[in-house]
Amino acid sequence: MQGLGTVGFIGVGAIATAMTDGLLAGDDGPSRVVLSPRGARNAAQLSARHRHVSVAASNQEVAAGADILVLSVLPGQLHDAVAGLRLHDGQVLVSVLAGVSLHEIREALDTDLPIVRTIPLPPVAQRGAVTVMTEAPGVVTQMFDLLGGCLPVPDEAQLSVFSAMTGSFTGLLQYVATLSRWAGTQGVPVADAERFIRDAVAGLAPGLRDSQTSMDQLIRAHETPGGLNEQLRREFFDDRTTAALQSALDNLLHVVTR
Ligand SMILES: NC(=O)c1ccc[n+]([C@@H]2O[C@H](COP(=O)([O-])OP(=O)(O)OC[C@H]3O[C@@H](n4cnc5c(N)ncnc54)[C@H](OP(=O)(O)O)[C@@H]3O)[C@@H](O)[C@H]2O)c1
Repeated sequence: MQGLGTVGFIGVGAIATAMTDGLLAGDDGPSRVVLSPRGARNAAQLSARHRHVSVAASNQEVAAGADILVLSVLPGQLHDAVAGLRLHDGQVLVSVLAGVSLHEIREALDTDLPIVRTIPLPPVAQRGAVTVMTEAPGVVTQMFDLLGGCLPVPDEAQLSVFSAMTGSFTGLLQYVATLSRWAGTQGVPVADAERFIRDAVAGLAPGLRDSQTSMDQLIRAHETPGGLNEQLRREFFDDRTTAALQSALDNLLHVVTR
């Protein structure tokens, strides 16, 4: 198998840090990772943590050295970050920017090189999350296979649906927080309720990670017919709340497809 060569990151924030840690978590990763100077604190910490990491003097230096060039700035920072960048043949571009189309990226960079849109998640730091991506050359799927696997989608419209779903994570946490706050209204110390419910919810992780078990099977496995869990699930997720959640997701889809 061909090696990954050098992976460069323009923008060293949360997700570039997670990807770098994941890529260098074994000796099967890229031969080198080159980081942009912006995101200086993260870049310095990563280069202290991993001997194959270096920090470039400019975004152009990252682009010049990278076989795979990852664009990992915030969407509004793209144009500044890539202004005047010179790319070279054989290079592949990977964008992690939410809601920025292939067309917009191609225009910003003025290039015909292959560009792949991806949705990496923070657990890639532990090589523990599948990454959704548009059509990708082998070297890119090889990189994301290391980070937890690839989930290819046929087009950007489907990628956007996954992107909208990424907006639901803190809502899930808010659901958990609401449970312990409710316990507080009943006289239970919120900290005790939180400890209890966080352990219980974290205990659901192995089942969630087992891709052989469907969500319906998981739900059935965790509830007794006619029991407390079934009662709350049916009462809370009635037609109205289910429609409200779906409508909020529709709104997110609108935001990411603009
Ligand atoms: N975080 C996630 O879980 C996640 C998941 C999937 C996709 N994404 C996408 O990943 C992208 C980055 O998200 P993030 O959470 O990692 O953001 P972040 O932590 O804010 O990182 C953005 C980085 O870009 C740097 N930057 C700003 N302007 C730059 C420039 N002109 N040249 C080079 N670097 C520049 C910033 O440096 P300074 O600190 O010096 O300003 C910072 O290091 C976003 O587009 C987001 O949609 C994020």
